[in-house]
Amino acid sequence: MTADPRKPRHVAIIMDGNGRWAQLRARPRLFGHHAGAKRVKEIVRACPDLGVKYLTVFAFSTENWKRTQTEVAGLMKLFKRYIRREAQSLHEENVRVRFIGDRVRLEPALVDLMDGLELMTAENSGTNLTIALNYGGRDEVTRAARRLAHDVKLGNLDPREICDETFPRYLDTYVLPDPDLVIRTSGEARISNFLLWQSAYAEYEFIDTLWPDFSADVFADVLARYGLRDRRFGAVPV
Ligand code: IPE
Ligand code: IPE
Ligand code: MG
Repeated sequence: MTADPRKPRHVAIIMDGNGRWAQLRARPRLFGHHAGAKRVKEIVRACPDLGVKYLTVFAFSTENWKRTQTEVAGLMKLFKRYIRREAQSLHEENVRVRFIGDRVRLEPALVDLMDGLELMTAENSGTNLTIALNYGGRDEVTRAARRLAHDVKLGNLDPREICDETFPRYLDTYVLPDPDLVIRTSGEARISNFLLWQSAYAEYEFIDTLWPDFSADVFADVLARYGLRDRRFGAVPV
């Protein structure tokens, strides 16, 4: 069965606006992050009906360490709690979870939970949920280049073989198709170092909704607009 071209197979989301959502309610930023985390599940659950097989969400960037120690520590605690609480139900819903980003800077207790969830859901065949945690596109590309250089040095790779098909095998996303659609919430029209290589030909949707207000209905509306787009990939329509 060929996939419906009006439906994106892979949707990536820059989940932005948690802080402003909390500020509007005169609450601390972490209150917004907790509200935002609750939304992820609803969006994952909406994927099968909408024809989305891969969902990738940006949870923490390599630049987010610049935030206050209180916010960073609160976020790390939230990630651990989220994995502990949601692991079983994600597994029961046949979701396959993966993490991308550099794990070296993350605390071992969090990395253990991430590894555990990946392992637990490794055989699942439903929605592929990828969580970008301590992820930066430039960081990913430079880590990939480092590994590739190492392979060349060891004689495992001939430099003449390096091309746009072989290079992505060194990226964190090597098993994932490129995103068809990248959504950013909260009204900011920038990509903030997300999936730089992979979204070369993605469609973009910048929407004003703050992430904690992003519902399955909003998601369905965005996908309906995607269905009206004309993707040419550099070619001239015949
Ligand atoms: C996105 O929301 C979540 C993370 C970056 C962790 P923000 O925290 O960036 O929210 P705003 O942009 O300040 O409203
Ligand atoms: C991007 O949002 C990162 C995540 C959503 C995790 P930011 O709020 O960190 O991006 P900037 O600072 O507005 O570019
Ligand atoms: Mg932000």
